[in-house]
Amino acid sequence: MKTILVTGGVGYIGSHTVVALQENGYKVVILDNLCNSKAITLSNIQKISSQAPIFYQGDIRDRPMLRDIFKNHPIDGVIHFAGLKAVGESQSEPLKYYDNNVVGSITLLEEMIKAKVDTFVFSSSATVYGEPGATQYQEGMPTTPINVYGRTKLMVEEILRDGAKANPGLRVACLRYFNPVGAHLSGLIGENPVGTPNNLMPYIGQIALGILPKLKVFGSDYPTPDGTGLRDYIHVHDLAQGHLLALQYLEDHPGALTVNLGTGKPYSVLEMISAFEKVSGKSIPYDLVERRSGDLAEYYANSDLAKTVLGWEAKHGIERMCEDTWRFYRQLDSAQS
Ligand code: NAD
Ligand code: UD1
Repeated sequence: MKTILVTGGVGYIGSHTVVALQENGYKVVILDNLCNSKAITLSNIQKISSQAPIFYQGDIRDRPMLRDIFKNHPIDGVIHFAGLKAVGESQSEPLKYYDNNVVGSITLLEEMIKAKVDTFVFSSSATVYGEPGATQYQEGMPTTPINVYGRTKLMVEEILRDGAKANPGLRVACLRYFNPVGAHLSGLIGENPVGTPNNLMPYIGQIALGILPKLKVFGSDYPTPDGTGLRDYIHVHDLAQGHLLALQYLEDHPGALTVNLGTGKPYSVLEMISAFEKVSGKSIPYDLVERRSGDLAEYYANSDLAKTVLGWEAKHGIERMCEDTWRFYRQLDSAQS
């Protein structure tokens, strides 16, 4: 049985990946400081997969803790989710982001190499592409991220690719996620941000529950069919499967792989609202307002490489994304009332 260290494993994408790993025969050790997640997720992971991951509450920048983990467990590979991800906050507190995301990743990588662990899967983002003037992003395209968060992701990618060049035994995969949405079929784990959500789906979910009154649709004059922004929403379950396939791929392929994980099919904000209304039976009131600064009209993935090298393809469509999000929000609501 292989043992995987999952940093940030209590978070949104991490928790779904931990479930997928445990269901596929991996043993999991989680390192998470709970700065953006709650310990209750650990018992929900256990409920879903009838197995408790080993949990260390701590920071990826804590070298002694990393040394303990690598000493105490026969770690075969690392999946690195731990990171800060709020674009606005990254602009106002850049050093916090460079320290957490970049210094944190370097510390983890150094301790991993010292412990003679050679496999590293990294959570990157479509944000690294920035504004190349294209709408369909392919891995070879220029990377010019337009915010601090995106730059931290690109820096870590480059550190990993340089690391793999210098250490021929190293195996790294940088997975560039598009817009993760959805939740586990059980309704027990999903995305539940602290405070008012910045992202579309959690915002819609909170309107459906009556927590928030109305959605602001940012921009209705984009050069898109209905004038609202188009994005490549991807179900978190499909994303989790992508991590498993990346781990398997790295077993036979030393070096560095950089790959998009998206569906290749974009949806507009109005299409997302209408799909959510259909599955939930709730009305989602909205106002069309000004564009949000930093938003692009449209982007989506070219996922041919993921299909060719990993044999990965997204299976879940927009309806399932909305159904699972809604189930998670209803469950959350009944647990709180
Ligand atoms: P999340 O905030 O739900 O999960 C991140 C987890 O990492 C949290 O549990 C948090 O407590 C933990 N963490 C943060 N800094 C840490 C540190 N220094 N030490 C230990 N633990 C720490 O976020 P998520 O949506 O699950 O995203 C996971 C990763 O994927 C992040 O690196 C994020 O940047 C990346 N990503 C996310 C998206 C998205 O839309 N959700 C898109 C592209 C990339
Ligand atoms: C954002 C981040 C990106 C991150 C991604 C996934 C920015 C600029 N980018 O992308 O780095 O990887 O989340 O977490 O923040 N929308 C509304 N009203 C809302 C919220 C969103 O109309 O209240 C629209 C947006 O304008 C966009 C679409 O919905 O067209 C999706 O927005 P969002 O979920 O925030 O994701 P992105 O902006 O694509």
